[in-house]
Amino acid sequence: MAAASSRISSPRLLLAAHCALLLALAGPAHGYAPSGGVALSSAFYDESCPSAYDVVRRVIQDARVSDPRIPASLIRLHFHDCFVNGCDGSLLLDDDLPAIQSEKHVPANDKSARGFEVVDDIKSALEEACPGIVSCADILALAAEISVELAGGPRWRVLLGRRDGMTTNIASANNLPSPFDPLNKLQEKFRNFNLDDTDLVALQGAHTFGKVQCQFTQENCAAGQPEDTLENLDRVTPNVFDNKYYGNLLHGAAQLPSDQVMLSDAVAEATTAPIVHRFAANQQDFFRNFATSMVKMGNIGPLTGTDGEIRKNCRRTNSKGY
Ligand code: HEM
Repeated sequence: MAAASSRISSPRLLLAAHCALLLALAGPAHGYAPSGGVALSSAFYDESCPSAYDVVRRVIQDARVSDPRIPASLIRLHFHDCFVNGCDGSLLLDDDLPAIQSEKHVPANDKSARGFEVVDDIKSALEEACPGIVSCADILALAAEISVELAGGPRWRVLLGRRDGMTTNIASANNLPSPFDPLNKLQEKFRNFNLDDTDLVALQGAHTFGKVQCQFTQENCAAGQPEDTLENLDRVTPNVFDNKYYGNLLHGAAQLPSDQVMLSDAVAEATTAPIVHRFAANQQDFFRNFATSMVKMGNIGPLTGTDGEIRKNCRRTNSKGY
């Protein structure tokens, strides 16, 4: 026992185990390993911008006073960023034709993705505190964790060190998961990034807060209601990050068809349904898995090392000025 624990506490072995874990988290299928060969690290800004976390938190706190929905909107931006070209801030780029066609106009984002002005405010505050240091892709990762924590959800150590991409990917953005995808399609879209059924069920648990337009809901809009009428994604505790969302699924009362399929689809019983039951019964179990899955999602294909750049303005590449 003593020999085993002294072996485990050897610094080299600890480092090796740490690297192996990071690589396991960082190496999704289809070539989505980090470019630049540098693993993300929670200590990345400890020297260069020690106030990064506090700055991001303060701006989000201020923003949610006038817009309580902003935490939900920000975590969704991180998801839509990571699933397209990896977590490289590509979602944040505005049109700059013909070179850059913004991902903001694809159906999954158009008149739907929001919070971009708050990201601008965070970037401005960080440029004041530590110019040219914190990437826009890392802002989204930090904002996601802070948003969950502010709404009562779990905390986790955000891995950092992503750099910003110089391109967008419209084809991939057009392939973001749809609320009308059957379960096997959703599973495939997650598996493409090495995210398994537990990750799928845990990450959809983010629908515990935020809003949905009635055009996307299971019931669709009531007669005469405009299709962009907003409803709560979680009808029980709409602003709290908790496990009530899974209880809604058990009652057939999920808002999105893509939520309910995790229980109702033909392939659900052998795959996602037992996980939904687990998370409905045990919030701590959900919280633990959600945090792990967020770290995995945040590791999708980051640019690191000298790849990409640290944008001065999240809406434009540096070559375009700011
Ligand atoms: C299975 C894949 C998913 C699908 C099909 C999906 C679909 C949607 C749709 C259709 C909306 C409503 C958009 C609107 O009405 O404008 C929405 C909202 C939201 N989604 Fe997802 N989603 C998925 C996964 C995720 C993941 C992985 C996260 C985060 C980890 C997430 C977080 C959110 C949040 C927080 C909102 C509310 C945003 C707000 O109020 O601004 N979703 N999602």
